[in-house]
Amino acid sequence: MPLPEYVGNDVVDLDDPAIVEHHSNRRFVARVCALEEQHALARAADQKAHLWSLFAAKEAAFKLAVKRLGPLAFAHRAFVVSDDFSAVRYAEHRFPLSLATGPGWLHALVSTASAVFCVELLQGETPGATAREALSALVARVSRLSRARLRVERERSHGSWDGLGPPRLVCGKRAAAIDVSLSHDGRFVAAAAIVRASASQNASAHSRKQPVEIDVPSGERP
Ligand SMILES: CC(C)(COP(=O)(O)OP(=O)(O)OC[C@H]1O[C@@H](n2cnc3c(N)ncnc32)[C@H](O)[C@@H]1OP(=O)(O)O)[C@@H](O)C(=O)NCCC(=O)NCCS
Repeated sequence: MPLPEYVGNDVVDLDDPAIVEHHSNRRFVARVCALEEQHALARAADQKAHLWSLFAAKEAAFKLAVKRLGPLAFAHRAFVVSDDFSAVRYAEHRFPLSLATGPGWLHALVSTASAVFCVELLQGETPGATAREALSALVARVSRLSRARLRVERERSHGSWDGLGPPRLVCGKRAAAIDVSLSHDGRFVAAAAIVRASASQNASAHSRKQPVEIDVPSGERP
């Protein structure tokens, strides 16, 4: 039987004042980046964007790897991003990566099959709720599932760092057979979902190779 397909995503608010100097902080860079990544970062024209692209790719890959491999301790250095930002390597595993940027944000999508994502501005003060709304709307657009019946659950997981497992999509009372991922940072939230074969035929414009659905308010589209 084929392995299930998984997705992980991560958004970074590039204008967050807290991250302005991290690319010049040697200890931070050495903790997060493998040696070959440190060399590439040193050569990069825009070191801040380069560092946070690496960081987002690693976080997205971690979110996927936990689902494929089971609970893991997250060591950023162990997730190594290829020079061309097309994949993330973890031990003997290699996960396809795509990066996207918009006004003030960057987004990493790591997936083992065609996937869609959206980035939206935070509404109110609960990023988790905004991200879940964005996810439900995204999935409803690329599948036949009704937005009103979709919700996200996170089960207890003893091996995980916060006691909770990855987010799972539920439709009505049943688990939806679509893997999903959530992220929030600063002014932005992001959501991603695997597009099933039947859905991807109807929504080929949203596939990972010919990506992506970027949903930000009008006037701020990249
Ligand atoms: C999982 C992790 C990468 C999330 O990154 P983050 O920058 O904190 O937050 P993001 O906004 O990008 O993502 C948060 C979302 O990730 C999802 N998430 C959390 N844990 C997850 C997991 N294990 N797998 C997949 N997705 C997960 C959740 O949906 C969460 O949103 P929610 O809280 O609204 O449900 C981060 O919390 C982390 O580093 N965890 C591991 C810590 C660890 O291993 N420590 C080792 C010492 S114990």
